[in-house]
Amino acid sequence: GRPSGNESQHRLDFQLMTKIHDTLFIKLTWRSGQADRETCAMKGKHRDECHNFIKVLVPRNDDLVFICGTNGFNPMCRYYRLDNLEFDGEEISGLARCPFDAKQTNVALFADGKLYSATVADFLASDAVIYRSMGDGSALRTIKYDSKWLKEPHFLHAVDYGDFVYFFFREIAAEHNNLGKAVYSRVARICKNDMGGSQRVLEKHWTSFVKARLNCSVPGESFFYFDVLQAITDIIDINGVPSVVGVFTTQLNSIPGSAVCAFSMVDIENAFHGRFKEQKTPDSVWTPFPEEKLPKPRPGCCAGHGSAESYKTSIEFPDETLQFIKSHPLMDASVPSIGDEPWFTKTRVRYRLTALAVDNTAGPQKNYTVVFIGSEAGIVLKVLAKTSPLSLNDSILLEEIDVFNQAKYDDRQILSFHLDKDTHTLYVAFSSCVVRIPLSRCERHSSCQK
Ligand SMILES: *[C@@H]1O[C@H](CO)[C@@H](O)[C@H](O)[C@H]1NC(C)=O
Ligand SMILES: *[C@@H]1O[C@H](CO)[C@@H](O)[C@H](O)[C@H]1NC(C)=O
Ligand SMILES: *[C@@H]1O[C@H](CO)[C@@H](O)[C@H](O)[C@H]1NC(C)=O
Repeated sequence: GRPSGNESQHRLDFQLMTKIHDTLFIKLTWRSGQADRETCAMKGKHRDECHNFIKVLVPRNDDLVFICGTNGFNPMCRYYRLDNLEFDGEEISGLARCPFDAKQTNVALFADGKLYSATVADFLASDAVIYRSMGDGSALRTIKYDSKWLKEPHFLHAVDYGDFVYFFFREIAAEHNNLGKAVYSRVARICKNDMGGSQRVLEKHWTSFVKARLNCSVPGESFFYFDVLQAITDIIDINGVPSVVGVFTTQLNSIPGSAVCAFSMVDIENAFHGRFKEQKTPDSVWTPFPEEKLPKPRPGCCAGHGSAESYKTSIEFPDETLQFIKSHPLMDASVPSIGDEPWFTKTRVRYRLTALAVDNTAGPQKNYTVVFIGSEAGIVLKVLAKTSPLSLNDSILLEEIDVFNQAKYDDRQILSFHLDKDTHTLYVAFSSCVVRIPLSRCERHSSCQK
């Protein structure tokens, strides 16, 4: 919304873009109250940080959308009706559902009527949490301040798939042995039927939280990792295989380089069925935990399934299983990318690639995969992906579209995409505007339109 009165002029910062039914929601104006703004300023925050930045906007059902904002470092949530955008019901706390600070990344979604949120749950942004609340049963969370579970995470996406909710994020790698900090990319998995542990171990905490590294690397002599996940798709079919596609960069303090890698859900599941990683003492190197020594039922399982088939709920799990998962959330194997190599890399340029959208039904026969990749420099790269390792052709850069020139605003960085097949449109979000471009522009190539 437009600031009014004697408030300082601030940009309409882009926050979220979500399509619900036929409407693209870009932002809903909801000002923080006078009292919240004053308290925020008293806590030492700049006036420009004390607005109500909307950080959660997720459909609850066909009628309601759930919205949370930072509310001047006092996060609050509300339901709004989708038909008239009227506020519905009461305000509820945004704690552990929405960050205090707009700069923190977070994700949220409803699955089986419960809200799954990944954010930081305090003013200082030190309490990173994956949290489930609302619906029946008590709220569950990750262990507080346990760097084996989460270490300065940067949450990017969550998806509801089968019996699980998956979270995609990057974090400081606790298992990194060399000097200095390294960021690794992760996929984590939680059972939707998790009810928490027993009164003795993991009560009101996840019993099924497991995570694995995503391996986006260039094979061969010039072997190289792209370890910093920047954006990732929903689960989509690639050659009939449910998969996710992500854009990764090099470590933030090194020379810029970016790569697009795809991961199949089967490979992700295989990593979770494999061995766990263990560090015996705080100084020792991490090693795989011997499979034969694992307690039963297998740690990380969902009650009623697999080796935990005879358990009705996770509350009944034996102490050994719960103790193990409490101290071993990390899997030993990393998830290999499809074809063991990136679909596309961009190096030797000054900018990084930080946004991504995939059209998996491109072309007249709808059998090609086209990847749109957004850069810090306002350029959209359009790439025909080599999705099959058997294909003889590498990925082909089809077009570089300088979207920013059309927009003429100050911040060139592309923040996110929304690909809308119904209208054949790619929405490109900058901090102060949203630009739409068509998915294809065949009229420009009239001599070879087919
Ligand atoms: C990542 O994948 C490459 C290529 O398959 C492999 O050589 C490397 O060992 C893998 N790294 C990890 C940590 O699993
Ligand atoms: C897509 O379908 C067309 C026509 O059936 C075929 O010629 C082409 O090889 C297919 N491409 C891929 C990538 O499967
Ligand atoms: C694949 O590569 C071959 C040889 O370079 C080329 O003739 C062919 O047109 C390419 N196919 C596609 C779909 O670009």
